Amino acid sequence: MPAISFQSVTKQYPAARGGAGLKALDAVSFDIEEGEFFGLLGPNGAGKTTLISILAGLARPTSGRVTVNGFDVQGDYAQARRQLGIVPQELVFDPFFTVREALRIQSGYFGVKNNEAWIAELLESLGLADKAHANMRQLSGGMKRRVLVAQALVHKPPVIVLDEPTAGVDVELRQTLWQFIARLNKQGHSVLLTTHYLEEAEALCSRIAMLQLGRVVALERTSDLLKAASSNVLRFKVDGALPAAFEGKARVTGRIVQLPAHDAHEIEQHLAVIRQAGLRVEDVEIRKADLEDVFFDVMARGREGAGNPPAAARGIEKAGALS
Ligand SMILES: Nc1ncnc2c1ncn2[C@@H]1O[C@H](COP(=O)(O)OP(=O)(O)O)[C@@H](O)[C@H]1O
Ligand SMILES: [Mg+2]
Repeated sequence: MPAISFQSVTKQYPAARGGAGLKALDAVSFDIEEGEFFGLLGPNGAGKTTLISILAGLARPTSGRVTVNGFDVQGDYAQARRQLGIVPQELVFDPFFTVREALRIQSGYFGVKNNEAWIAELLESLGLADKAHANMRQLSGGMKRRVLVAQALVHKPPVIVLDEPTAGVDVELRQTLWQFIARLNKQGHSVLLTTHYLEEAEALCSRIAMLQLGRVVALERTSDLLKAASSNVLRFKVDGALPAAFEGKARVTGRIVQLPAHDAHEIEQHLAVIRQAGLRVEDVEIRKADLEDVFFDVMARGREGAGNPPAAARGIEKAGALS
């Protein structure tokens, strides 16, 4: 039985006054198997949080069905919710309690008694031990994020869902958090993660789905996604406008240009085009393609239109056959 099953989930937000309605999710279907560490990626507005809100029972799908360990999130809300530990994207907390009190109250909410040992372990593992008696409103953003993680895990949920848990948090917390979540995953907890840090997803997730405008545009094992990418990336700094030949191919961040290249021959071709254009380049570097390159490729092709599916997205057909 899958840990989470999304079955043709569609979410239509009603039209605001004068505007058109918005289809935030369009027939999203995929399963997360028990024990998997699964990544859900997509640009802002792709629908990740909407999908997680539906999973959490906080929003209703317009159509479709979601189950957690077989429990329907609508028909069997209490059972489904008990399976889930959800770390929300927004920092929501009650300012009147201390950290330990917040965790005790959350335990009570799930009917977990005698939870002190696990609460102590959570505080310790998340670097919160010396903040146990601090008031929630006295904590920094990063510390509040740790408490939200602890709160989500207080009932030892078999399925852990993290919605951009590391957005805007320091490197230390990111490392503490991933060590802890990876340990829980090894112990058998299933994990669904959304993040903008693609190197985190590449390192942690065994499978990845990419969402774009409410649709699944790629769904593959992480290793297969990386295999489908151009194997190399030529990276350099440039003064001046790029030749038209690179349009749609190059990824530009300020002066830094990154160009996919399959082999040495293509790298030479790129360099020849640059030379002919009379551009001065600096800090030339060749590196292996990573998940960020794949993501960029999938999203760019998605924008070009459905008629040109990205090589990296071919796994969708396979996934469709499963459900
Ligand atoms: N309550 C809402 N009412 C109307 N539109 C919404 C609501 N929540 C989200 N949206 C819209 O749905 C789309 C998906 O949003 P969201 O699920 O937050 O995306 P993500 O988490 O991937 O950034 C966005 O276009 C967003 O503006
Ligand atoms: Mg979001």
